[in-house]
Amino acid sequence: MGSWLVLGGTRFLSRAVAAEAVARGHEVTCVARGESGPVPEGAALVVADRDVPGALDPLRGRRFDAVVDVATMSFPWVRDALAVIDADHWTFVSTISVYADTATPGQGVDAPLLDPLEGGGPADGPEVYGAVKVASEDAVRAGHPRPLVVRAGLICGPGDRSDRFGYWPARFARGGPTVVPDARDQPAQIVDVRDLAAWIVSSGERGLTGTFDGSGPRTTLGAVLDEIAAAVGAPDLVPVPLAPAALEAAGVSPWAGPRSLPLWLPDSHVGIAARDTSPAAEAGLVCRPVADTARAALEHERTLDPARARGAGLAPDDERALLPDPPP
Ligand SMILES: NC(=O)c1ccc[n+]([C@@H]2O[C@H](COP(=O)([O-])OP(=O)(O)OC[C@H]3O[C@@H](n4cnc5c(N)ncnc54)[C@H](OP(=O)(O)O)[C@@H]3O)[C@@H](O)[C@H]2O)c1
Repeated sequence: MGSWLVLGGTRFLSRAVAAEAVARGHEVTCVARGESGPVPEGAALVVADRDVPGALDPLRGRRFDAVVDVATMSFPWVRDALAVIDADHWTFVSTISVYADTATPGQGVDAPLLDPLEGGGPADGPEVYGAVKVASEDAVRAGHPRPLVVRAGLICGPGDRSDRFGYWPARFARGGPTVVPDARDQPAQIVDVRDLAAWIVSSGERGLTGTFDGSGPRTTLGAVLDEIAAAVGAPDLVPVPLAPAALEAAGVSPWAGPRSLPLWLPDSHVGIAARDTSPAAEAGLVCRPVADTARAALEHERTLDPARARGAGLAPDDERALLPDPPP
């Protein structure tokens, strides 16, 4: 069994990676501030704030079989980790937001990228996310002899706090007339956090290198919503499709944010949900049915405060105001 270092490990994907590595018998060390939650049982935590210079110095002199870094949006974090940590294999979790063209479906990893930005930090907004990831990827490829870069798509399932998928299982489980975008044929693409974590760990174990779009197969919004509804929908659920133009006129945003409908995309961004992920599938990424992700997301939703500020979706009053009168 190997020694694994997970830079992260206290929430969502990085925690799932640490849990998977522990379950396979590896000795797992996580590095985080510990603010997002505990590391999985069986993993060790080195408390460090990567915004503090020298934060990773306690790792100097240790050697790891595999490192997984999820550095979300900081080039200096990635550069500093590469300078300090000694490891045989290095996985960097990047994003499909690195691509310059977000509109064209069917693109692969050779598609043009944003210009790299060697910045990112607590003061920066989401607009630099993709560019910082491009620079971070470059640093990993230049700084490690056996790099694996995983450009994740929309990661869903247990532990997700973004509501960008979980809204739908939660909403469908509540039932009644439910606003959905009338955009059944729009591309959709997700990956379950557990599947991505399992693939990242098995790839590290066998020393896979290269760059992959890490997401599930291409499908449609209609198919995904149908599968969620079949898996967790209440008996009285009645989807009410509203035209994109009507939603926009009513101030409903696609994808995320307040007053939004997740998974729905403007034409300018349908390409992010239609990546050619066949190379990842050929390299071992196995994706479970959407129904399974929906059930787990609903279970996770039920552990959260229903009154919390949501990252995506419609509040019940906003949705009611959109429904035809009388409701169907
Ligand atoms: N979520 C998605 O749908 C999605 C889509 C595409 C790509 N990605 C990429 O996937 C990766 C994982 O994303 P995620 O949302 O699941 O994140 P995550 O795995 O939850 O990772 C965040 C980790 O970073 C740690 N962290 C945050 N600030 C830190 C600091 N100053 N010093 C040390 N550690 C710190 C957090 O721990 P503490 O807070 O305890 O310090 C946490 O363990 C990221 O690279 C992201 O860009 C995500």
